[in-house]
Amino acid sequence: MRVTGTGHASMRIDTNAGSILCDPWVNPAYFASWFPFPDNSLLDWETLGDVDYLYVSHLHRDHFDAAHLKRYVSKKATVLLPEFPTSEMEDEFRELGFTKFLKTRNEEVVELDGGLKIMIQALTSPTDGPIGDSSLWVEYDGVRLLNQNDARPTDLSTFAELGHVHAHMLQFSGAIWYPMVYELPQSAKTAFGKQKRDRQFDRTWRYIDDLKADHVFPIAGPPCFLDDELWQFNDIFDDEGNIFPDQSVFLAEYAKVGGTNGIVLLPGSVSEITTEGATTTHPQPVEEFFANKVAHLEEMRERKRPIIEAEKASWRHPEIDVLKELKQRIEPLLDESIYLAKGVGGPVRFDLVGTDSSGGETIESIVVDFPGKQVRPYADEKVRYRFRTERALIEHLLHIGEVDWVNSLFLSCRFSAARIGQYNEFVYAFFKCLSSERLQYAEGWYDEHERAVDAEDITIGDWVVQRRCPHLKADLSRFGIVDGDQLTCQLHGWRFDLPSGRCLTSVGHKVRAHRVGEEAEVAEAAPSSSS
Ligand code: FES
Repeated sequence: MRVTGTGHASMRIDTNAGSILCDPWVNPAYFASWFPFPDNSLLDWETLGDVDYLYVSHLHRDHFDAAHLKRYVSKKATVLLPEFPTSEMEDEFRELGFTKFLKTRNEEVVELDGGLKIMIQALTSPTDGPIGDSSLWVEYDGVRLLNQNDARPTDLSTFAELGHVHAHMLQFSGAIWYPMVYELPQSAKTAFGKQKRDRQFDRTWRYIDDLKADHVFPIAGPPCFLDDELWQFNDIFDDEGNIFPDQSVFLAEYAKVGGTNGIVLLPGSVSEITTEGATTTHPQPVEEFFANKVAHLEEMRERKRPIIEAEKASWRHPEIDVLKELKQRIEPLLDESIYLAKGVGGPVRFDLVGTDSSGGETIESIVVDFPGKQVRPYADEKVRYRFRTERALIEHLLHIGEVDWVNSLFLSCRFSAARIGQYNEFVYAFFKCLSSERLQYAEGWYDEHERAVDAEDITIGDWVVQRRCPHLKADLSRFGIVDGDQLTCQLHGWRFDLPSGRCLTSVGHKVRAHRVGEEAEVAEAAPSSSS
């Protein structure tokens, strides 16, 4: 089996029974803030795109690059579709001209022509990607590969049960706006960023240890930020709070925990994988590439500047009455929302920064009032969350009818945020579900999962706790760590105060716990709307 690195989470897998192109991403994503790192735009995409099968793990724009798929990927390719709850991905592929689909069943192995076997695991909680993320398992001629991508299954046993895996591709770096966009003192941001960076690596080690593959390939990040306004997010300033460590940092950190089987793929690197080992060739020495990272980024920045400028010029639509449009689009969804609205539990304010005719700064403050189920001007009240962004970005979202603000505005990092109290996942879940179809799915999912009773308990140290994490059901016998009276679930790093059961990371999500030898209390079943 041959794997060619094609940048970020992308790779091309070649076997004698056919080729699979995965997640090809080249064009900037999220308001031109993310670019693939290292640059992959100069690869021979005409040849790479001439494949038998295409697999895109999910609809995040650094995985699903519509313009690139349309221009470069053969429409003769069969698209391997994860079993997602909505047809959005298939619809998008059809619009791009793809006509051949293999609709996989979740976790079912499919044998394709020539003995090539694949299996796709689809994760379908509203917090997994935009309504779904997935991983691809491939077997040919006794060689097994898991492209876990940036998916976060609760464990990897489904794949491990199919036999020893030789190549494990997984994410290790950050892909979020936290904590950079928060209006916090720099020292706090650094401390939170460092915690997050450590957690990302801990989670990666856990997955690697779960699967025990022969070779580990760090993929799916980090992106690079080439706009001058976002340049500081690149991990080139020796900032221990930067959440975007690159592949060379992965190798160094992995070595500290005893990892010796890491293989970095640059765009154009080729790894020949057999049951006996892997031989990899690179377009240039990997160490040399990372030693010159700053020069690479600076050169890219100059080359891509016109693309960024052209995108920026397309965002303004001053003819749009933002308040009126938001009312029209969001109020019907607020009316439909039960779990998400209750989970948010308070008003969320958007400060939209624009310029007046004399070039002065203007700010329009709009509130999405979840309890009141309306969108209205800000009324000098206490709010749960406050976002501040350029008015032009919201105008653009309204202009294109964007239904997923996480997959556009929030991942762009082109905003700042402040909040009272804890992180609230329902805020982001709502703003990624700005269509009736998505909202109904998310509401149904929370309804089903919040009602589900997790009856099984386990013991960790001095505490008896429910086996499944209240967040996304990770098995706490594997991911749970108790330190004093605090439980941390390592899958996403959520923390819980054991004596009260309170989640310290997000609103709601109480954990059931009691000391060994003491009586248990009944756990809260629905998300709280604490004020
Ligand atoms: S499953 Fe996300 S923190 Fe436990």
